[in-house]
This record gives sequence, C-alpha cells and structure tokens, in this order.
Amino acid sequence: MNALIAITDLGFVYPGPPPVEALISVNLTVATGEYVALVGPSGSGKSTMLNVLGLLDRHTSGDYLLAGSDVLSMRDAERTELRSHSIGFVFQAFHLMPHRTAWENVSLALMYRKGISPSVRRERAVAALERVGLRDKVNAYPTQLSGGQRQRVAIARACVGDPALLLCDEPTGNLDSETATRVLEMIEELHAQGQTVVVITHDEAVAARAHRRIRVRDGRTEEID
Ligand SMILES: Nc1ncnc2c1ncn2[C@@H]1O[C@H](COP(=O)(O)OP(=O)(O)OP(=O)(O)O)[C@@H](O)[C@H]1O
Ligand SMILES: [Mg+2]
Repeated sequence: MNALIAITDLGFVYPGPPPVEALISVNLTVATGEYVALVGPSGSGKSTMLNVLGLLDRHTSGDYLLAGSDVLSMRDAERTELRSHSIGFVFQAFHLMPHRTAWENVSLALMYRKGISPSVRRERAVAALERVGLRDKVNAYPTQLSGGQRQRVAIARACVGDPALLLCDEPTGNLDSETATRVLEMIEELHAQGQTVVVITHDEAVAARAHRRIRVRDGRTEEID
C-alpha cells in the first residue's frame, strides 16, 4: 500500500496548564487516494487530529510520516512549505479573510509557493473559483456571499494548489442540507481527481459517503468499517 499518512503510537498533549492529553497512542494509515471519515463525540480529539495531520500542530510523541517524510523532525519553515504544497483545508466556519476578496482569499493559498508570479496566482485563483461555480463572485468580499458560497470559496482555496491531501473539519456543519450536498459533491469531485480526503463529521449521512470510517473516542482511534 502506498501510504500518504502513516501514524504510529502518536500522542498529543495541550501544554495547559493543566495539560490535556488529547490524543493517546493513535495508529492510523491512510493510503493515497482514500476517502476517510473521522467520527466521534464532541471533545474526543477529532479537530486535534486534523490539526496534527495538517501540520498546524506538532505531535508530542510517536511517529507521523506524511508521504514518507518524518514531519516531527522538520523545522517550522519546512513544515510550512510542505503544508502549502501538500495540504488543503476546509473548515466549518470557512476561515476566510474578511478584508480580502474571493480571489484574494484563494490566491493566499499560493503565497508560500516559490516561483509563482502574482499574475499567475490571480489566474489560478480565478480558475479555481470558476470550477466551484463562482466566476461572477471573484471580486466579492466574504460578507457579500452566502454561507454556501463562502464554503465554495474555501474549497477553491483548498484545491488551488492541487494538494495531495484535503482535510475537512465539519465542512457542512454550517450549511443547509441542499447546500451541504453540493459542497460534498465538490469535495468528492476532488477525490475523484485523485486527492486523498479526510473529513471530520458528526453527521452520519456525511460519514456514510466516505469509503472508510474511523471513530475517535477519548483521544484514541478505532476502525469502524
Ligand atoms: N487549545 C486547547 N488547549 C487545551 N485543551 C484543548 C485545546 N483544544 C482542545 N482541547 C481539549 O482537547 C480535547 C479534544 O478536543 P478537540 O477539539 O480535538 O475535540 P473534537 O473531537 O474536535 O470536538 P468537537 O466535535 O466538539 O469539535 C478536548 O478535551 C478539549 O477540551
Ligand atoms: Mg472539533
């Protein structure tokens, strides 16, 4: 198996005080091209897991190899570089910059890429917005967009750099069911084009669409099916 994510005995402690052991001896392998859902109750460690997977937080014990690279031993700058090339994020609350237009928000995902000129960044951002059906909103600010449109901007931002891994934390949590379905279809199109997708969800219907489900409970993971 060609593992994109290979995690062994991974632990994560929020330093506190008081320290919180949020992940305990997690073992997880995700192959390139998989579509995996992480489910589990509030506080079980799902977002912590996503932050560690996405190199936003550094695990405190165990091993995490991303595409074969040991990410723990990397310097912050190396991790930022790897993250900007390899990982796209979609969050429940969209996390767009309020004073940037849609295309500026998308182009920010390419800021850490070397060798891409500002005009090419803009072209690629506009093309990504076209792919999610927002050609007419490229100059709109987030406050001028609906929730579903904001999430589509976030999806454009997540995929503009063509990352290997797409990490989604409750991507449909703030959307009505019809809009949620469209957002999931877009995520699934990216999966069909070869991206590996990990989606965190409370929603059974969202989890059911993934090809594999993993439960997070009290900081530990277990395969469901
Ligand atoms: N910044 C932090 N500092 C200290 N403890 C934290 C911090 N963030 C989360 N925790 C704790 O870590 C544990 C896991 O939290 P996490 O946010 O990963 O849960 P979750 O599964 O995403 O929950 P939810 O479904 O509510 O989003 C919880 O006990 C939480 O209180
Ligand atoms: Mg969470």
